Amino acid sequence: MNELRIAVVGAGLMGADHVTRITTRIVGASVVAIVEPDAGRAAAAIASAPGSVHFASIEEAIAAGIVDAVLIATPGQFHEPVLLPVLAAGLPVLCEKPLTPSSAAALRVLEAEQKAGKKLLQVGFMRRFDREYMQLRSLIASGDAGELLALRCAHRNPSVPASYTNDMLINDSVVHEIDVVRYLTDSPITAIEVKHQKRNSLSPAGLKEPILVLLETESGILADVEMNVSIQFGYQVRTEAVFERGLAEIGRTSGMTTWTDGVIGTAEHMSFTTRFADAYDTQIQRWVNATLVGEIDGPSAWDGYLVAVACEAGVTALNGGGRVKIEYAPRPAFYS
Ligand SMILES: NC(=O)c1ccc[n+]([C@@H]2O[C@H](COP(=O)([O-])OP(=O)(O)OC[C@H]3O[C@@H](n4cnc5c(N)ncnc54)[C@H](O)[C@@H]3O)[C@@H](O)[C@H]2O)c1
Repeated sequence: MNELRIAVVGAGLMGADHVTRITTRIVGASVVAIVEPDAGRAAAAIASAPGSVHFASIEEAIAAGIVDAVLIATPGQFHEPVLLPVLAAGLPVLCEKPLTPSSAAALRVLEAEQKAGKKLLQVGFMRRFDREYMQLRSLIASGDAGELLALRCAHRNPSVPASYTNDMLINDSVVHEIDVVRYLTDSPITAIEVKHQKRNSLSPAGLKEPILVLLETESGILADVEMNVSIQFGYQVRTEAVFERGLAEIGRTSGMTTWTDGVIGTAEHMSFTTRFADAYDTQIQRWVNATLVGEIDGPSAWDGYLVAVACEAGVTALNGGGRVKIEYAPRPAFYS
């Protein structure tokens, strides 16, 4: 096989972005099938991927026999019902984060993958493919600045829709830091605590944010995360790493700077789609390359399970649970 034929399930914001990416920038793959219940979004996705066909369900797309791999970009609660038939058919799949909203569902997905007999599933934690995150991980692993002591993270969105709930602060947003802190430190997260900061009056009604999240790793690192979804001015994801002999910072706003009318200006991102555009491209290209040779090349279903457990603990902490300890099921040999 030298061209991977992909079915995209869910063609909303992220799915449509992936359809365009695969069609215009990714080498060795094309979108052949779209599964999307919204007629307008389905038509738009078909139009941007010439030759692709609409299917009412993933089961029908698989039965058509034209699909080599699947990319899932439905909301998280619909990941499991799509993943199970895909894994049962033995098809490789890239599933957008989170793997599943609950750890019980994640365990069912792990079982389905083990039944398939080989690693087929990669989870879309795309920060692992961001150049600066990769550089920081190398610096930490090298020990060149001494031992890593702490991580200070900030994750800021300009605004969110009224449908965004308090639990989504953890499950949709801090979920990225939960994965990437473990990726950077190479150590599982063992406890989580959440503090509410002074409420931003510009947040949607009922949303209590920004929040401060404290993550503790087994290796003794403390990572604090300012999670802020109503900051208005732009989209920022920054991390400062504190070492024994200095600091490193990633995610600083960069690009052309202007000095006009007494003001220094550099354009800030307004969305993850531009801030992480290169990371999404790298993630999908490496997934396609690996899939063509029967492998995965990125976060596994096991990584997705660990994040699901930590997010559950995070929601408990958010809802007044204090410092919540995190315990994981034993890792099956299949994922060692
Ligand atoms: N990696 C990232 O940075 C990132 C960023 C945004 C979203 N996401 C993830 O991508 C996924 C989609 O998020 P979004 O913002 O695009 O949501 P969205 O609501 O814009 O789009 C989801 C689409 O899925 C469709 N859908 C719902 N149920 C379906 C089903 N059973 N079968 C097929 N299609 C179905 C909806 O009609 C909708 O068009 C989520 O898992 C989200 O967490 C990841």
